Amino acid sequence: MNALKYLEKARKEKFAIGAFNCANIETLKAITNAAKNLHSPILIECSPGEIEHIGVSQMVSLARTFEKQLHIPIILNLDHGTDPEKIKQAIDSGFDYVHFDGGKLPFEEAVKVGKELADYAHKNGVVIEGEIDSIEGSSADHTGEKPSVDQNLYTDPDKAKAFIEKTGIDVFASFVGNLHGIYSENKHLNLDLLKQIHKENPNTFLSLHGGSGIIEDDIKEAIKCGVVKINVNSELRITFKMTLEEELKNTKEIAAYKYMQKPIKEMQKVVEYKIKIFGSQNKI
Ligand code: G3H
Ligand code: ZN
Repeated sequence: MNALKYLEKARKEKFAIGAFNCANIETLKAITNAAKNLHSPILIECSPGEIEHIGVSQMVSLARTFEKQLHIPIILNLDHGTDPEKIKQAIDSGFDYVHFDGGKLPFEEAVKVGKELADYAHKNGVVIEGEIDSIEGSSADHTGEKPSVDQNLYTDPDKAKAFIEKTGIDVFASFVGNLHGIYSENKHLNLDLLKQIHKENPNTFLSLHGGSGIIEDDIKEAIKCGVVKINVNSELRITFKMTLEEELKNTKEIAAYKYMQKPIKEMQKVVEYKIKIFGSQNKI
């Protein structure tokens, strides 16, 4: 899959590609059905934990099979990779895109590892995203309570520029209020800061993590500021869990494929809704 082609198309036509996490076949079906229905390109995201669960080459085979069967472009991404060896393994196994999360590393170390990985990715025709500011919150432990985050932890545009120039990464993941997780109070973005990051790095694609629970208007403005990829995880995980719990409460059925139909449908609705907001409908 030529990921760059779709990122460039997104930049030119001012839309964002939805990047949805996938931990099981039901989620994969929901995401790909939605993309097929709305003729949208998509990124399938697998965190190191999700890859551990599914298997790295199994995930590549699944993505390629769905892509072929449904005639939709699927960009397969290793989401929040921190271990360089695991990132290289994903590249070697056929992932189209990798996300190096250097948020927990000192800046110079993140630059060193980021450069090595960017060289490796590019040698193999793979797109690489980089992150240096740990995006706070969590897509795993859902409490509903918004963590208080010091705005000094948000992306510094000069530091972002230095990181991008020194490593040669293609996509930059900014932290501008886009916390991971979904909270009782919706998330606002610091759009001025995002504009500044874009202005300093006009040729770098911008990625927006923490896509669940952000004010819709802010999402649309972020796309105008150069965001071409938006990550969504928590909204799908919560939809899956809540729908499944409801299904199990109301049935004596033991055939899993039967009680999994409703969770697939409900997650598909979420993905379709996001695709429409992101403007990627009919962009294949
Ligand atoms: O990397 C994944 C995401 O950034 C998802 O964030 O759980 O807030 O949708 P979210
Ligand atoms: Zn993320």
